[in-house]
Amino acid sequence: MVPSFIAKISGLLMMMVVAVATAGSSSPATNISTSKDTVAIYWGQNSLGYLSNFKNNEKELWWYCNWDSVDIIMLAFMQDFPGTYSSKYETYIPTLSFPHHKDSEFSVNNTAVMSRIAKDIKYCQKRNKKILLSLGGEAGSYGFDSTEQAQEFGHTLWQMFGEKNHTKSNITLPRPFGDSVIDGFDFDIENDQTEGYVTLIETLQNYTSSSTKKKYYYSAAPQCPYPDQNMNTILAGNSLDMVFVQFYNNDCNANSNSSFNWDTWADYAQNTSLNSDVQVYLGLPGSVNSSSTGYIETSAELQTLIKSVDSDSHFGGVMLWEASMSFQNKPTDSKNSYPMTIKNILKSQVDNSTVKINGAMDSKKNHMNLALAIVAFGWIILTV
Ligand SMILES: *[C@@H]1O[C@H](CO)[C@@H](O)[C@H](O)[C@H]1NC(C)=O
Ligand SMILES: *[C@@H]1O[C@H](CO)[C@@H](O)[C@H](O)[C@H]1NC(C)=O
Ligand SMILES: *[C@@H]1O[C@H](CO)[C@@H](O)[C@H](O)[C@H]1NC(C)=O
Ligand SMILES: *[C@@H]1O[C@H](CO)[C@@H](O)[C@H](O)[C@H]1NC(C)=O
Ligand SMILES: *[C@@H]1O[C@H](CO)[C@@H](O)[C@H](O)[C@H]1NC(C)=O
Ligand SMILES: *[C@@H]1O[C@H](CO)[C@@H](O)[C@H](O)[C@H]1NC(C)=O
Ligand SMILES: *[C@@H]1O[C@H](CO)[C@@H](O)[C@H](O)[C@H]1NC(C)=O
Ligand SMILES: *[C@@H]1O[C@H](CO)[C@@H](O)[C@H](O)[C@H]1NC(C)=O
Ligand SMILES: *[C@@H]1O[C@H](CO)[C@@H](O)[C@H](O)[C@H]1NC(C)=O
Repeated sequence: MVPSFIAKISGLLMMMVVAVATAGSSSPATNISTSKDTVAIYWGQNSLGYLSNFKNNEKELWWYCNWDSVDIIMLAFMQDFPGTYSSKYETYIPTLSFPHHKDSEFSVNNTAVMSRIAKDIKYCQKRNKKILLSLGGEAGSYGFDSTEQAQEFGHTLWQMFGEKNHTKSNITLPRPFGDSVIDGFDFDIENDQTEGYVTLIETLQNYTSSSTKKKYYYSAAPQCPYPDQNMNTILAGNSLDMVFVQFYNNDCNANSNSSFNWDTWADYAQNTSLNSDVQVYLGLPGSVNSSSTGYIETSAELQTLIKSVDSDSHFGGVMLWEASMSFQNKPTDSKNSYPMTIKNILKSQVDNSTVKINGAMDSKKNHMNLALAIVAFGWIILTV
């Protein structure tokens, strides 16, 4: 009786350990500061548009974090800033907009926590994804009148999205993502109001460099013509970790044989960037409908293109615009989604391996393991 009881209990414990271990597993932690097979993707704009056929709309954030083909997700966008002055908060409150999502807007008029996104950020971070907040975009109204205004907004941003540390003021600002803390800030400035950004980023970096909790990332997403008319002050004046160059919508796009200008950006990385380890990403449209030019149709051409740039010491991976379209799209010669095809190309060229088919499948397997452990537990209770 006793030995077999102990055997069963230890067997059960082992099964539970296995189940818990696999349930908690996530894609291996890659160091995105050094790896060259990183895929970064914009999420939140649902640029496919709202479809009555709901299953084709952009999924909630957590869904994308189940895929090993994605490493960095930029939440797009904070589209109005510094925003509207609030006498309650004694500062300007920006607007965040994620069309057709459960939490579609945060603004001075609606300062409730975006609880779906807040929860998903934590889920994604557990799976080793980095979540950046992207400021700007094509639409929206943003920019600063003065350096002082930009600096004040830097303090506001840190209180709203950074680590809670409210010693500077007695007023607690609303936090769109609750107690979730993003991994950094991305700048996609597409208007001509360039004042203040260098100071804004420095203000944020002064906070994040004193963090003992984690590394924060700063990125910019210029269009490919160099110098970028709207963001050259940032590109030349701030120490950025990543530059997501949009090689589309312009003559220098990735699908133009002669005018594709990666070399110009390699030159920027080596000779201009304040961060000598800056990583430049090949920014591509994720679907034929994601841009006017630059779309690459086949995985064979994607492979040739990536091969032509990945030996650059500053190459960091591929950026895709954007989640809703690229995940529903496949290169004509691939059975995998566009992001997965790209991840496989990057993996095979960098370390000659392929990625697991699908992180979502892993989750199902985890549920199976948990179910098995529960069945085993019931069996032991019944038999001892
Ligand atoms: C990632 O690589 C950078 C540059 O080599 C290094 O400074 C940093 O400590 C690494 N981070 C982790 C988490 O290993
Ligand atoms: C807030 O509400 C007011 C009144 O309805 C409106 O005029 C204003 O545009 C709103 N502001 C934002 C940022 O949504
Ligand atoms: C915070 O509150 C304390 C005590 O109520 C007050 O003395 C101090 O001036 C306030 N600080 C700010 C920045 O409002
Ligand atoms: C950042 O910190 C440095 C060092 O303390 C300081 O000289 C600089 O003025 C700060 N920059 C901003 C924008 O706050
Ligand atoms: C926390 O607040 C203190 C005091 O204002 C400041 O010196 C420090 O930089 C802050 N740290 C972070 C990570 O925000
Ligand atoms: C690039 O070159 C190929 C082969 O010469 C040609 O078929 C294709 O049309 C060219 N594409 C562009 C955008 O010029
Ligand atoms: C950096 O500048 C030097 C001197 O002008 C040049 O020879 C080199 O090619 C540049 N680096 C890159 C990657 O273009
Ligand atoms: C692109 O848009 C066209 C016109 O709306 C549509 O017919 C086509 O299916 C779209 N293609 C993809 C890959 O989404
Ligand atoms: C991948 O395989 C190619 C061809 O066999 C080889 O030249 C290359 O060194 C390998 N790369 C790595 C990182 O092992």
